[in-house]
Order: sequence, then C-alpha cells, then structure tokens
Amino acid sequence: MLRKGGNMLSTKTSIRNFEFDNPFMNASGVMCYDRNELTQMMDSVAATFVTKTATLEERAGNPLPRYKSTELGSINSMGLPNMGIEYYLEFLETLPEDMTVFLSTTGLSKNEIHTLLKRIKESNFNGLVELNLSCPNVVGKPQLAYDFEATDTILSEVFEYFDKPLGIKLPPYFDMVHFDMAAAIFNKYDLAFVNCVNSIGNGLVIEDESVVIKPKAGFGGIGGDYIKPTALANVNAFYKRLKPSIKIIGTGGVKSGVDAFQHILCGATMVQIGTALQEEGTAIFEKVLTELKEIMHDKGYKSLDDFRGKLKVIE
Ligand code: DHB
Repeated sequence: MLRKGGNMLSTKTSIRNFEFDNPFMNASGVMCYDRNELTQMMDSVAATFVTKTATLEERAGNPLPRYKSTELGSINSMGLPNMGIEYYLEFLETLPEDMTVFLSTTGLSKNEIHTLLKRIKESNFNGLVELNLSCPNVVGKPQLAYDFEATDTILSEVFEYFDKPLGIKLPPYFDMVHFDMAAAIFNKYDLAFVNCVNSIGNGLVIEDESVVIKPKAGFGGIGGDYIKPTALANVNAFYKRLKPSIKIIGTGGVKSGVDAFQHILCGATMVQIGTALQEEGTAIFEKVLTELKEIMHDKGYKSLDDFRGKLKVIE
C-alpha cells in the first residue's frame, strides 16, 4: 500500500522546461491515429501522448492484415497510415494550453521532411516534435537512421531553421561502433531527446506454414517482449554517450512496472508503451504506474532521479 503523508513519492519527469506527472505515454503508432484515439490517451493515466507519425498528405497505409499479436509481442507493417499533418495540427490546437504533447512526423523524402518541419515551425504547436528517422515499413524507403551520413546531413539542414524542441525516433542499433558513430552525430545538435527504440525492423512471424501479415510477404517490425533487451541496451548506450541536455525516451517491451523501472535505470526520462497498449488498452498505464510506484516505495526511492541511469555493473 502506498501511504499518504510523509512518503512524498514523486514520478515527475521533464524534458527541457516541460514537466510531466509521470514518465508514461503511448509509443507512436498505437492509440494515436485520430482524435478519438488521442482523446482516449488524454483520458488515461499517461502523462502525455505522441501522435501517429504524420506525413504531409493523408495515407491509407499497407493492405490488411498488417498487425498481428503473438505470444511474445507483435509484428506490424502498417505503412504509415495517418490523417496528414494538417489534421494533427488542428487537433493539437484545441488542447488546453498547459498540456504538453508530442507530434510525430516524417517525410517520404528529404524535401517532404523539410516541408513538414517548416510547416510545424510556422504553426501554433508549442509542444515537442518527434522526427521519425526509423520507419521500417514503407516499400522502397530504407530507414534513414541506418544511413549515418544522410542522418547527419538532414539534421544539419533541419537545425538551420527549426527552433522548436525537436527529438528523433531511432531504430535499434546492434553494434558498439554504431552506438559510437550515431552518438557522435547526435551530440553535434541541440536535440531535446532521442527515442530508443522503434520496432526491430523486418522480422518474420510464421503460423501454420504461412506468414501472418500481408504486406512485404510477411516481413514487419517486431515489438513487445522480444525487443526489451535490445531496447534497454539502446537506452543505456545512448544515455552513456549523449550530452546530458539530450534526454532519452525508452521504448520497447514495457508491460509492467519492472520493465519501466529498468528503462529508467538504463537512463530513460520518459517511457513509451506500444504493443502492450495495443493489446490491453489504456488501462495498462494505471497498472504500470501503480507497479512502478510500488517498486520505488519498496526500494525507498522518492523520485525517478534517485535511480535514473544508476544501472549497476559487475566489477
Ligand atoms: C510505421 C511503422 C514504424 O515503425 C514507424 O516508425 C513509422 C511507421 C508504419 O508502418 O506505419
């Protein structure tokens, strides 16, 4: 039982000058497609939300079936279905002034990315922008963040004009040299955050001798339990390499308070939930927040700062 009085346990966290009551939010792609889903996020215990990744024009996405839940997680190849940037900007304008949210966006070309970010710069949106450099599911479009030179170029161009708080959504990396190379690039820019990780791209799930999703002959992004160790490694690798002004959002395999605790222990400032939110609905946030508070209470931690990034290693 969490007792009132004396205990004063806080789950507050912040990025730049934006403060959140707790670290929880959805991962982009889940519960964020339209105003109906975003309103459900607002009615949940989560402190904030991120929109579905918005492109310039509305997109229908890939043919169905394009998402499948499995015993250990999920596979998807959605193909960026979204309402288009104007829809999200319009909806976000209706929110209360004191509510800070995240707007996810990406272009299918470098030009489209610049057009989108210039539009967002001119808009009244005053929250945080998550530039998605890691969509694995658009046929013929490689993930930008696996091309370090292209990533460096796009960031250098963006920071010439973009003056709102901006972070990037990253794919998982799997090599220590890649952590070093990526971090060296990100440290050159005034990023507000990096989000680790997007789904592990292009996995294959098979049932009854068949693929389970239609697009790309069954290949799709993997989420859920499968990806927690990869997500934790990416959170921790970037926490150790990035300058302290760049916060880490931890995403991947979170369905319990223990999972969230571990992401924060690895260095996460916010924690996003994807597959478990898709499977369990917004009630997941209440469960995970309660469990996180219980863990903190049992360990005597009064704030997230008491354990953020304090992962122990074996000497
Ligand atoms: C989609 C999937 C992603 O992992 C992503 O970053 C963006 C879009 C999608 O298929 O819609």
